[in-house]
Amino acid sequence: MRHNMKHQKSIIAALVVILLGMSSMAEAAKGNWKKGRIYYRMVCTDCHAKEAGGKISPSEKTKAEWLDYFEKNIHGPQDAPTKYTASYFVSHEYRESIKDTNRAAKKLLKIPEEQLLEDVKAFLVHTAKDSDQPTSCE
Ligand code: HEC
Repeated sequence: MRHNMKHQKSIIAALVVILLGMSSMAEAAKGNWKKGRIYYRMVCTDCHAKEAGGKISPSEKTKAEWLDYFEKNIHGPQDAPTKYTASYFVSHEYRESIKDTNRAAKKLLKIPEEQLLEDVKAFLVHTAKDSDQPTSCE
């Protein structure tokens, strides 16, 4: 009898671990657009304003175009991509390199790259040209 209880407890413990794992995976897949917004505005836009001839608004592209952009993982105009990949600018390496001068990069330094990419993606899709709230960078 005692043996059985122990067995049951370990099954329940295993189920809890599996459920927790599943919910954090679902969370990661969705992406947190509010975190993505902070990062996009304070890191991506910061550089675009200085080096890309001006800010690049989320509403410049449709949801499908943004997803395509990350799918292809190029950075810059389709016909003349820059030397970087889209994911480079969410990498630990890039955040490390600017953390002393960029508060958002410092604050979001510990987020795994894949998660931060999902967050930025979620923000851009959330505010794309064909979204419910197309957003220009004010
Ligand atoms: C260190 C500077 C820098 C950072 C950081 C940066 N970009 Fe850029 N980005 C540029 C430059 C330069 C261009 C090229 C502008 C051109 O040649 O027309 C560009 C162009 C783009 C374009 C192309 C717009 C078009 O013409 O279709 C997109 C999309 C883009 N960036 C997205 C991002 C995203 C998303 C991030 C953040 C995760 C980011 N960029 C971070 C410098 C940067």
